[in-house]
Amino acid sequence: MRPEPRELLYEGKAKQVFACDDADLVIVRYKDDATAFNAQKRGSVAEKGVVNNAVAAMLYAELEAYGVPTHFLEQLSAREQLVRRLTIVPVEVIVRNRAAGTFSSRYAVEEGFLLDPTVIEWCYKSDALGDPPLNTATAVALGLADEAQLEAMFDHAADINDYLSARFGVAGLELIDFKLEFGIDAAGELRLADEISPDTCRLWDLESGERLDKDRFRRDLGGVEEAYQEVWRRLRESQGRPLDLPEHDDFEHEHERLDGEDSEGLDALDAALPRPGD
Ligand SMILES: Nc1ncnc2c1ncn2[C@@H]1O[C@H](COP(=O)(O)OP(=O)(O)O)[C@@H](O)[C@H]1O
Ligand SMILES: [Mg+2]
Repeated sequence: MRPEPRELLYEGKAKQVFACDDADLVIVRYKDDATAFNAQKRGSVAEKGVVNNAVAAMLYAELEAYGVPTHFLEQLSAREQLVRRLTIVPVEVIVRNRAAGTFSSRYAVEEGFLLDPTVIEWCYKSDALGDPPLNTATAVALGLADEAQLEAMFDHAADINDYLSARFGVAGLELIDFKLEFGIDAAGELRLADEISPDTCRLWDLESGERLDKDRFRRDLGGVEEAYQEVWRRLRESQGRPLDLPEHDDFEHEHERLDGEDSEGLDALDAALPRPGD
């Protein structure tokens, strides 16, 4: 039976979280609302919720197949997905392959500067405080997470970066940076939560360097809707292409190809998305 959304548990900037009949699960509904600069800038991007739901559903299913535990269970509709209910660790993990945004201004380094090694940063998820930076001791001393959880989050973040960099690469996009959230499920397991989408990643066209992400909204670059839909179109088109992934020795990869029965739902979603010019 298809799970139905019941009580609204939380309404955030980009999504609503609903209870459903199973207490261990929640339904996430993706909205078109867009915010930036800690919600000082507000607006809306037509069909963003549909694109972000589709992108996140596809990438979380692929990450699970790659060996990363996530909250994702099933896409329910154009804007809704069924996920495991987690206790969110209030620590946001940011992975940076190239300098951009606040990193560039903080250190006065040009956007696009290649970061070697890859930078992993983490901050306290708190709108009231403007997501201040953390280090491990601060996070542990404030009781936000324990050391083992932080270690596991950084390990997952590195694996996720390997997968997503290759995955966006075959879609003609460079993954510049991204933000992750994690949480603990009913069984005590740490899992990737929240979303991965053009709201939470910087994605630049591999050839032209054009930005196909939320910076178009933040910086009033225009073509925001088109950029989000272009990301989805490219991911959809490149699904199943072989990825050039680094070898790991610390976890088993299945490298399952997510086609066959899964693609039916994706086709339906794709058909529901407006075409450029509609
Ligand atoms: N699996 C999950 N279980 C419970 N809460 C979740 C889960 N995944 C994400 N969340 C939380 O739900 C909210 C999603 O809505 P969003 O609009 O992104 O909120 P925010 O404005 O806090 O960023 C976030 O606060 C996020 O931490
Ligand atoms: Mg959010």
